Amino acid sequence: MNTPLHFAVMGNPIKHSYSPLLHALFAKQAGLDIHYEKVLVPIEEFEPAVQTFFEQGGKGLNITVPFKLRAYELAKANLSPRAQSAGSVNTLWMEDGNLHGCNTDGIGMVNDIQRQGIDLKNKKILLLGAGGAARGVILPLLETGCRQLLIVNRTVTKASELVAQCLTGLPQYADVLSAGSFEQIQDQWDIVINATSSSLQQNALPLPVGLFTTNSLAYDMVYTPENDTPFLQQARKDGATVASDGLGMLVYQGAESFFIWHHVRVNPVPVLDALRQQLVTG
Ligand code: ATR
Repeated sequence: MNTPLHFAVMGNPIKHSYSPLLHALFAKQAGLDIHYEKVLVPIEEFEPAVQTFFEQGGKGLNITVPFKLRAYELAKANLSPRAQSAGSVNTLWMEDGNLHGCNTDGIGMVNDIQRQGIDLKNKKILLLGAGGAARGVILPLLETGCRQLLIVNRTVTKASELVAQCLTGLPQYADVLSAGSFEQIQDQWDIVINATSSSLQQNALPLPVGLFTTNSLAYDMVYTPENDTPFLQQARKDGATVASDGLGMLVYQGAESFFIWHHVRVNPVPVLDALRQQLVTG
């Protein structure tokens, strides 16, 4: 009998990770026999934990908070363009004896937005926040062919630095990508994405009224059982009719990691339905 291929997600904390459930459902769909576990890694032991995992024949790792930057450093010789642009890694695997890293968060979010019937080409996108979560989605958003991507942040210098850094590697987007402050936000936007941690703290954001048209999408990277966050409530009050939390992003980033490891495309939609159901019923 063949031993199932071994995968894991490493983080600290890790108890609430849905990755084992996601990958079990993807594997079932694909007819693959895998073993995927959660590993709580002590803060100082991340690098040896990764090394040991692959030395013992492990096939792939997902990496979550607080280790994504350290995973990037570990795989620095073999990073995908998505990982390079994100500056962090959530997916590791071995190829020809070398550790490789990718970041699937951004493409996961873009795929989840497209699942909702929204084409990002030529759209005006407002990205709120300039931390790791925002940085992770910039390249996949630009690659959709959006017309404008404005990054605003409470600390404006962080947004300006992030944009300058991105444009150094991606000068072809100089007319599309820009930075600003919350106070400078004007006009209406097709898509407004919350990549700040405000919803985690249950805080509203200082957004001007009139940001949304009836066709605008408000997207929060944070998720809750009810698909409701302070940002989404704010957006609905201001006229947004399509409001989405980040549960789909979680599922679609997992599907991309699954593809990297197994070269098999799965359908994330039933997995998203199952996960939403599980969140609602607790
Ligand atoms: P992550 O890696 O998850 O993005 P981070 O690097 O700590 O986390 O970044 C958090 C982001 O949320 C930052 O853009 C932060 O703004 P500052 O750079 O000004 O700190 C933003 N943020 C957090 N709480 C916020 C709030 N209440 N209002 C506006 N922005 C907030």
